[in-house]
Amino acid sequence: MQHERPNKPALRIQPTTLWEYPSQHYGSSVQGDARYVGATPSYVIWNLIERYTKPGDLVLDPFCGSGTTLDVAKDTGRLGRGFDLSPYRADIEQADARKLPVDSVSVDLVFMDPPYGDHIDYSDDKNCIGKLSAYDPKYYQAMHRAIREGARVLKPGGTMGIYVCDYFEKKKGFAPVGFQLFGSLAEALRIVDVVSVVRHNKSLDLGNHRKAAEEGNFFLRGFNYLFIAQKPDLKAIAAARPEPKPDLRKRDRRGRIGGR
Ligand SMILES: C[S@@+](CC[C@H](N)C(=O)[O-])C[C@H]1O[C@@H](n2cnc3c(N)ncnc32)[C@H](O)[C@@H]1O
Repeated sequence: MQHERPNKPALRIQPTTLWEYPSQHYGSSVQGDARYVGATPSYVIWNLIERYTKPGDLVLDPFCGSGTTLDVAKDTGRLGRGFDLSPYRADIEQADARKLPVDSVSVDLVFMDPPYGDHIDYSDDKNCIGKLSAYDPKYYQAMHRAIREGARVLKPGGTMGIYVCDYFEKKKGFAPVGFQLFGSLAEALRIVDVVSVVRHNKSLDLGNHRKAAEEGNFFLRGFNYLFIAQKPDLKAIAAARPEPKPDLRKRDRRGRIGGR
């Protein structure tokens, strides 16, 4: 379905660690499905693809939802593979993000926007990570496995982007989802940077939500984290490091140069 939005600004590489774009979709078309609850803003994926891959590279999304990553990969001339427990459309393959039917070291970019709590009902599948509460250690165990699986399929030098939000419930308080998943990511890969993505969630603008946050003295979620990490390319690192030259100067018995 085409949606004309002539006033939308051009898509640009975001130069700082604070990312913002005033629309869920770029250009005159839609990436993923505008009706899908919990879809990723497509410019986030576009920025990662442009920065960390080249045309023809393979981009993989293990929590593909409405297929936003596949549409952006196609727009940018990359190959895309999308997996989900509950595929929303025919080009998404059915698999659990913790056990992907994908060869090790075969992917250039893994992007994931996983469930971060049990506030959205994605499917009836009992393995859906969105059935686990952000206050339950089982959620973090499940995500730890999904992150390790993403790291397994990445090529050396390949990049992983994780888009995630913290969680808050008035009765239970703050759940630092971002920091916890960051720990798993840092164990698996080398961290490149941490980006804060401004949320344009409609519920943030609702007067009653804002009033409740002010009166209850809590915060509405204003940003998502985007964690960027890479699999070290040990061969490239070794090739870039100059070989140390042997010191051939003559030494005396006490190791002194020139017998001084
Ligand atoms: C936040 S949505 C992804 C949105 C997607 N990036 C988009 O733009 O439409 C999270 C997705 O994770 C899927 N999911 C939950 N548990 C999963 C698992 N264990 N393996 C694979 N997919 C899973 C859900 O079915 C849901 O589609």
